[in-house]
Amino acid sequence: VLAIGCAVAGGGHHLSQPYPAPFTHDETYRAVLAAEFTSLSAENQMKWDHLRPSRDAFDFTDADAIMEFAAQNGLVVRGHTLMWHNQIPAWVTEGEHSPEELRAILKEHIETVVGRYAGRMQQWDVVNEIFDDAAVLRTEGNIWIRELGPEIIADCFRWAHAADPQALLFVNDYNVEGINPKSDAYYALIQDLLADGVPVHGFSTQGHISIRYGFPSDLAENLQRFADLGLQTAITELDVRMDLPEGGRPTEEQLAKQAEYHRLVVEAAVSVEGCRSLTLWGVLDKYSWVPGTFPGEGAATVLWDDFTRKPAYDAVQDAL
Ligand code: XIL
Repeated sequence: VLAIGCAVAGGGHHLSQPYPAPFTHDETYRAVLAAEFTSLSAENQMKWDHLRPSRDAFDFTDADAIMEFAAQNGLVVRGHTLMWHNQIPAWVTEGEHSPEELRAILKEHIETVVGRYAGRMQQWDVVNEIFDDAAVLRTEGNIWIRELGPEIIADCFRWAHAADPQALLFVNDYNVEGINPKSDAYYALIQDLLADGVPVHGFSTQGHISIRYGFPSDLAENLQRFADLGLQTAITELDVRMDLPEGGRPTEEQLAKQAEYHRLVVEAAVSVEGCRSLTLWGVLDKYSWVPGTFPGEGAATVLWDDFTRKPAYDAVQDAL
């Protein structure tokens, strides 16, 4: 069974229009999350900048609200994310902490956050985007790896596993849909981690795809090689964006292509044993991060802003 999930919009700085937080203010949107999906992810609400106003404080208000909503509606949750180079508060990035202090801060964070939701979290993205676009470990760009060394990756998994032995612990990144230097780097890293007995349970690819660049046709083959290592796999942030024509309305051809890409992703996921989770990174374009992040592109979700269905919606449904 493939859980189909959605990221709960909110807490980002990307919205082109200043919508009030959709999850708390848009009842129709909430109803769609509950009715259409079996899994939820926090788009931003479980990231450091959200959870950690200061070194001494945790703010779980928005994260707890997602967990409660999921429990009420019988949905599972993917936790996102524990160790990442982005959306870290200034008190961490600009604070003058020694490596020992930083290590204690990270450990406390993982123990507290994972521990809070222990037994209620299906999967955690423990490390996110640790390789750069050249498939090189972010030894400069990721403050944790820079200050604490690559060994910190294994520690994050060990701390998370101790805090919640039931949660499946994932390595997550973008542009690792197909077999390429970046997914090769993960393949090598994960083999090393497994050989060292590190509790890593899953490899996931985000799935931020543009029809401009074509479909990663070896997606299933790539996921399968991680499955062959004994791992679960997942697609965690699927959206399929396109260059918007003048006026903003995609052409029928673009929508058909977007639908085809969704179908191919679902088919790949279904074909790989141990791929149990496919999450859409939003469901309405007005709340999507895409227009604010990729200039000129958009329409990346499966519903129109009035909640009617794009061809991509039916493609997902039909391929399941
Ligand atoms: C994005 C959110 O969608 C935005 O709201 C936020 O402003 C920036 O982050 N890879 C990830 C996600 O792992 O956390 C990112 O989410 C998108 C890319």
